[in-house]
Amino acid sequence: MTTADLDNTGILLAIRDLRVELPAPIGEETFTVVDGISFNVHRGETVALVGESGAGKSMTAAAVMHLLPDDAIVAGSIELDGRELTRLSERELVRVRGREIGLVFQDPSTALNPMYTAGWHVTEAVTLTRGLRRKAAVDAAREALVHVGFPAERFDAYPHELSGGMRQRAMLAIALAGEPKLLIADEPTTALDVVAGARIRAVLAELRRERDLALLVISHDLPMVAELASRVVVMYAGEVVEHGPTSAVFGAPAHPYTRDLLECLPPLGGHGTRDQKHRLAVIPMPDGPPGEGCRYAPRCRDVIQACRDEHPSMRPTHGGEARCILVPEAEAAR
Ligand SMILES: Nc1ncnc2c1ncn2[C@@H]1O[C@H](COP(=O)(O)OP(=O)(O)OP(=O)(O)O)[C@@H](O)[C@H]1O
Ligand code: SF4
Ligand SMILES: [Mg+2]
Repeated sequence: MTTADLDNTGILLAIRDLRVELPAPIGEETFTVVDGISFNVHRGETVALVGESGAGKSMTAAAVMHLLPDDAIVAGSIELDGRELTRLSERELVRVRGREIGLVFQDPSTALNPMYTAGWHVTEAVTLTRGLRRKAAVDAAREALVHVGFPAERFDAYPHELSGGMRQRAMLAIALAGEPKLLIADEPTTALDVVAGARIRAVLAELRRERDLALLVISHDLPMVAELASRVVVMYAGEVVEHGPTSAVFGAPAHPYTRDLLECLPPLGGHGTRDQKHRLAVIPMPDGPPGEGCRYAPRCRDVIQACRDEHPSMRPTHGGEARCILVPEAEAAR
């Protein structure tokens, strides 16, 4: 952890050495999908978790919400406001979900029940998290929907009658119904077209300003990350390989993987349309479990023999850290 991260004041979510193992599809073995990751989210701060498909981003979010498959093995610590979440009972966790942490799922089309209207979903969420009576809950649901730019007249629309952008707004209203301190948004714009994505970005930016909401945004949409997040955490093959202030990580990435990701993109802040160029490249993972050395070695253009001998530890960068032996051990490299 860096000096910035060791500053305990204002930490809302603290993840330490989080490890998630899942049963392998065949046999008795397990495979590790999140491997000893640590990072903080401070109150009112926006942190982005980025990395290619399969890096373990959604599994990290699922671990925080205690929504992993039943046979998952979890180790490490997840503290919310100083309270250890991994030791809470299911009953206590029900109170945390929605009231303290809101979650926008990666796939909004499967998160809404097609049998019920947008208004019903948000009313249910308000009732469960705030215990309001029916009339007050309906009023609060209307207010929550309007707050995220969902048109009031579509309150009784069913999910299939809504555009992707409107479904995503309904999901946001559900996640925010209990007035949580932390919102985890897993790919909030990825399934949307450029206009709908830009509107969701604007809604998130406004929510952050208005409510002092902490936001953990998981995204391939790096222009959104650059706009919203003050810090970035880069994951590769279940590990954090770099983290730091967004301007430093995007401006002068220290880890070769971060550099390769950014090179797949048009210049940040440009006016390109949101298309494949804005997504992180999906490069196939090497076969089999990671070996002893650096996990990025099979794909790294800067690899040297020493990279294959030993697993690199985190080394300090300007305001952050990177897991690469080419980053000088003690002094900031940039
Ligand atoms: N329900 C599941 N059961 C078994 N393995 C899973 C399950 N969900 C994900 N995995 C595996 O866990 C690893 C991490 O997946 P995860 O969904 O966290 O990736 P991600 O970083 O969110 O990727 P994406 O950008 O595609 O959403 C992958 O190897 C994936 O195949
Ligand atoms: S440790 Fe070596 S292989 Fe790994 S990212 Fe650094 S230079 Fe590349
Ligand atoms: Mg995911």
